[in-house]
Amino acid sequence: MAESAPQSVLVTGGAGFIGSHTVVELLQAGHAVTIVDDLSNASPKVLDRIARIVGPEASARCTFHEVDITDEAALDAVFVEAEAKAAARARGGDESRPPFDAVIHFAGFKAVGESVQKPLEYYSNNLGGTLSLCRVMRAHDVCSIVFSSSSTVYGDPDEVPLTELSPKKMATNPYGWTKWMIEQILTDLAAADERWDVVLLRYFNPIGAHPSGLIGEDPKGIPNNLVPYVAQTAVGRRDAVHVFGDDYPTPDGTGIRDYIHVVDLARGHVAALEWMVGRHGVEIFNLGTGTGSSVLEVIRAFSEASGVDVPYVIEGRRAGDIARNFADASKAERELGWKAEFTLADMCRDSWNWQSKNPEGFE
Ligand code: UFG
Repeated sequence: MAESAPQSVLVTGGAGFIGSHTVVELLQAGHAVTIVDDLSNASPKVLDRIARIVGPEASARCTFHEVDITDEAALDAVFVEAEAKAAARARGGDESRPPFDAVIHFAGFKAVGESVQKPLEYYSNNLGGTLSLCRVMRAHDVCSIVFSSSSTVYGDPDEVPLTELSPKKMATNPYGWTKWMIEQILTDLAAADERWDVVLLRYFNPIGAHPSGLIGEDPKGIPNNLVPYVAQTAVGRRDAVHVFGDDYPTPDGTGIRDYIHVVDLARGHVAALEWMVGRHGVEIFNLGTGTGSSVLEVIRAFSEASGVDVPYVIEGRRAGDIARNFADASKAERELGWKAEFTLADMCRDSWNWQSKNPEGFE
């Protein structure tokens, strides 16, 4: 297959925050998408919103299955159905194809604090889901997978920026361990069977929303992450942002992270998918901007973007937090030809656009 030829892609967790933005970019790049999502942390309304963004021609290339990927029989049925469609296309003169050319695997629980309270649920869902996905993939001869990993695997780094060769460190919570372990499982799989083609994408801190304001992050309950909390404060749902620590060894004392626009991140997946065609083995890419911003810089940028002076209070450090991390994203630029384009101001503008148009999220 020539590079950038249209692919048929299974996206697990495709109705979630990063998943939905990636589905939009995949459809707009001409690919066909099958979303599998159990809607445990996503709204069914996202499907209609995706269709509105991409239009009727592209949305005709998108199908949705409400399936929990730990339900191996239900997942297998999705592959069987796709196989039948691929066979029908082959009879129609198209080349013979497996049910999917590749899988992008987002589905998983992702709340750090909750994972400490519910380790069994996190390990069962995140590891169990990945194992059943890989078994079904292998049974249907689909061996290309892009995995949604995290910079959390670098732990508390000795030095920044982080390159893909920076050491993996001990995770500080079960969520982090699931990312760590799934990377290892997929690496072992590729070592054991040369058909596998694995790309591990280590995300830094995805924020922002689609510029249309139609899709964005919609956390259930009180947001754990900084920008959704800032956005809900700006829109009046919260009183003030709690800044977790101003005594870190950083210029203003608050924690530094590499915030990346979710649309840039989504495009990184499309680049990885197109890059991996015909390859085998494991490759790791950091997806970040290469620039760190402090908590206070984010609050200031958001205040400017929204025109709302976002109130905040300084509190003690949050357990498990690190002072700073940011990416060296040069490998992705060199190999994938991908680079983050949006600035922190763009991220805040789009996050505000989404939050102000949808103050209660999708509901
Ligand atoms: N912060 C606040 N107040 C808040 C929330 C966060 O001050 O209400 C601060 C944190 O202390 C940190 C920064 O804002 O300095 C960013 O915190 P987030 O919770 O938004 O993000 P984290 O960097 O802690 O975690 C994110 C993802 C994880 C992932 C991790 C990997 O949420 O899933 O990056 O680096 F594992």
